[in-house]
Amino acid sequence: MKIAFFDAKSYDRESFLRAAEGKNIEFKFFETKLWEETAELARGCDGVCVFVNDTVNAAVIDRLCEIGVRIVALRCAGFNNVDVRYAAGKIVVVRVPAYSPYAVAEHAMAMLLTSIRRTHKAYIRTRDFNFSLVGMTGFDLHGKTVGVIGTGKIGRVFIDICKGFGMRVLAYDKFPGESDGFEYVPIERLLTESHVISLHCPLTEDTYHLICADTVKKMRKGVVIINTSRGALIDADALLDGIKSRKIGAACLDVYEEESDFFFEDLSGHIVEDDTLARLISMPNVLVTSHQAFLTEEALRNIAETTVENILDEGTWQEKDLGSNS
Ligand code: NAI
Repeated sequence: MKIAFFDAKSYDRESFLRAAEGKNIEFKFFETKLWEETAELARGCDGVCVFVNDTVNAAVIDRLCEIGVRIVALRCAGFNNVDVRYAAGKIVVVRVPAYSPYAVAEHAMAMLLTSIRRTHKAYIRTRDFNFSLVGMTGFDLHGKTVGVIGTGKIGRVFIDICKGFGMRVLAYDKFPGESDGFEYVPIERLLTESHVISLHCPLTEDTYHLICADTVKKMRKGVVIINTSRGALIDADALLDGIKSRKIGAACLDVYEEESDFFFEDLSGHIVEDDTLARLISMPNVLVTSHQAFLTEEALRNIAETTVENILDEGTWQEKDLGSNS
């Protein structure tokens, strides 16, 4: 099997070459993302391997089919960047539904702690021998209420971590499951009662701009918002307004709606054209990481092994075709 591997980074090459050792699979690595104009690079390949910011829309699917590509292997869980309805019956789409919910949930907590205890600022201050504590006051998580939207694999690990901190956990899910040590509540109640809100649901028509001017209005003053799911769950301009008006106390963003133009690239020395992103980053109470929540050794190994298995197991492609729609 020959696979065109788009948006390849050094850490991807390492993990995928290791997973492919001794197997009938060969990767052609491309640094560019997959979109209409780069689809041609996959000519002569059986499949493409893509990540969160590659574009697999109808035009790309048509082009891939024309040049003989039979499988789109997502090396991620979310598949909002794939027109799955259009792909049905034309090309097989497989993904890695779970590789390490711990990686993402732990990153969400790391961002929360960094943000509220200002450890990122302390690191910079003490390197400059500035030992002042002025402006460093945080708050205890113990006894605070966290609202978790989406109680799937990652949301549940995050809930357990929050319980370990002695937090009261409220949750909202369109398809609620068992609630063990937390309470499912309507989303309005979650919004009004939570000191911290963390998003762990997929990006769908229902969840697009879930955090918007209307929902921000309902939140507690000083709320901390964490998004490690997909950028478009949040209307970034409404978030910015909420921060400027002091309604939102802090935002921890691992994802951003327009991230595909910026994230995963070294743009230091360039002028970033997105004023909303630039303004958010300039805020003292906004912490941005560039879609790195998944990036642990364990997750990379699981992603590579599952993707190689998904591709090589041609006989089971149809059953694996995306699995449950989450
Ligand atoms: P999952 O499928 O296990 O859980 C998603 C949960 O969201 C399910 O319980 C589902 O019922 C719920 N849900 C669906 N529609 C909803 C709605 N309209 N409102 C509220 N809840 C809804 O998914 P998992 O593995 O927990 O991942 C969650 C999200 O995390 C993924 O969709 C993906 O976008 C994101 N992710 C981000 C990563 C990163 O590096 N930042 C890495 C991996 C995933």
